Amino acid sequence: MTVSTAATTAPAASSPAASTATVPAAVPAAVVGAECADPACACPEPLPVLGRDVTVPLVTGGDVTYAALDYAASAPALQRVWDDVAAYAPYYGSVHRGAGYLSQLSTDLFEQSRATVAEFLGCRPDDQVVFTRSTTDSLNLLAAVLPAGTHVFVFETEHHAALLPWQRAKGAQVTCLPAPRTPEEAVAALDVALHGAPKGSKLVCVTGASNVTGEVWPVRRLAAAAHRHGARIVLDAAQLVPHRAVDVTELDVDWVAFSGHKLYAPFGSGVLAGRPDWLREAEPYLAGGGATRTVARRADGSVEAEWHTTVARHEAGSPNVIGAYAIASACRALTEAGFDRLAARERRLLGLLREGLAAVPGVRVLSLFGEDSERVGVLSFVVSGWNSSHLAAALSAEYGIGVRDGLFCAHPLVRHLLGAESEDLGACGSPDPGAGFNGNAVRVSFGAGTPEEHIRRCTAAVATLVREGAAWTYATESGRCVPVGPGER
Ligand SMILES: Cc1ncc(COP(=O)(O)O)c(C=O)c1O
Repeated sequence: MTVSTAATTAPAASSPAASTATVPAAVPAAVVGAECADPACACPEPLPVLGRDVTVPLVTGGDVTYAALDYAASAPALQRVWDDVAAYAPYYGSVHRGAGYLSQLSTDLFEQSRATVAEFLGCRPDDQVVFTRSTTDSLNLLAAVLPAGTHVFVFETEHHAALLPWQRAKGAQVTCLPAPRTPEEAVAALDVALHGAPKGSKLVCVTGASNVTGEVWPVRRLAAAAHRHGARIVLDAAQLVPHRAVDVTELDVDWVAFSGHKLYAPFGSGVLAGRPDWLREAEPYLAGGGATRTVARRADGSVEAEWHTTVARHEAGSPNVIGAYAIASACRALTEAGFDRLAARERRLLGLLREGLAAVPGVRVLSLFGEDSERVGVLSFVVSGWNSSHLAAALSAEYGIGVRDGLFCAHPLVRHLLGAESEDLGACGSPDPGAGFNGNAVRVSFGAGTPEEHIRRCTAAVATLVREGAAWTYATESGRCVPVGPGER
């Protein structure tokens, strides 16, 4: 959307014309840059994102353009999303609670955003799209509405947001399946576990793409296994939605959860979309305004609420219209750019990254399903003799590259991949490389806004660091590995 003056002079917002055409688009639809020079390459240029020209200082002197390679944590905003939000901002108003023109316009925009997200996800006609704060919030919402006694099945490889909410769900029983070695093993293990499960409601929670290895999970086959045994399935699409088209109907998943800030729309919103029945039948997630049809004080002094049975039931409080609108804007931008083209480009960058790292002695790329498995733009690795926090700190301080180190909120998975049970992460900046302990890993992640130069800089920097050592010395201060002074290189 772009707000034009037409919107302000349009008929009253409550009129049919205003509710369907409140905000005409003015941001150019073509967000994809020119094609690569090589005519054989069907990959577009990176999509414009905010921060692409930001420079950061290096400890070794001078400034460099920041290479954001931590998209899996939070991706930069798409320029298109930012422009859409900026165009709407002057028209900002309350949602579902105002008689004024801007309140009605904002309400229309919020509901249009819901429809855009439903379309983006290929939702079934009766599916509900609930706006939440994030994937974590979405999965906690689903955990809160589980029918009593639901048996939940989850792999130990999940992000904590998909692993933990069920443990707190009242009356739920959780089975945590061990890390599979192949997609086939995942499907078979789920099949066996569900086969042996007692009657009653069952839910499977599975990720679409791992936030540690980037590997794509066999969602359609897992959904088929779940449904074969009368279970439902929720897809944690936090890492899949930014990289691949996700179609709820085609995958046949019951719910999908994702976060705006990983989808180039960092304005505090997330989504839970899917079957309405469990949502409708459960207590509201939050109690408050907007979720109620009516509230009355009884003669005995108590307060009685009649709750909505629509999506409003779980959206108590003032909705985050900017967050929802930003997600809708990102959905449109990525759809227009074309996931096939985005994925093709990402595969090429992934190839460069893998090739560059393969040339560095001692690098081990973490993988559950093996070399040839399909991945999104997320890759974790360790370097023998290097403490991962040390390596990540040096990439930042000496090369202006932002990656992540640690266990990535997926502790069981990373420990499984590293074969490390120890909580001891070793000393950052150990002068003796042999003393470095890889109790954690380095993660490089990228997406639609990443230029090739960032990947090339990263692999060249890892190669130089491993070959020559860091230029500065590093130490752990307040839990972070930081440069403390020039080294001896
Ligand atoms: C696979 C996966 N699921 C869930 C989450 C949680 O997302 P959020 O922190 O946006 O709630 C993340 C975040 O990194 C993730 O990678």
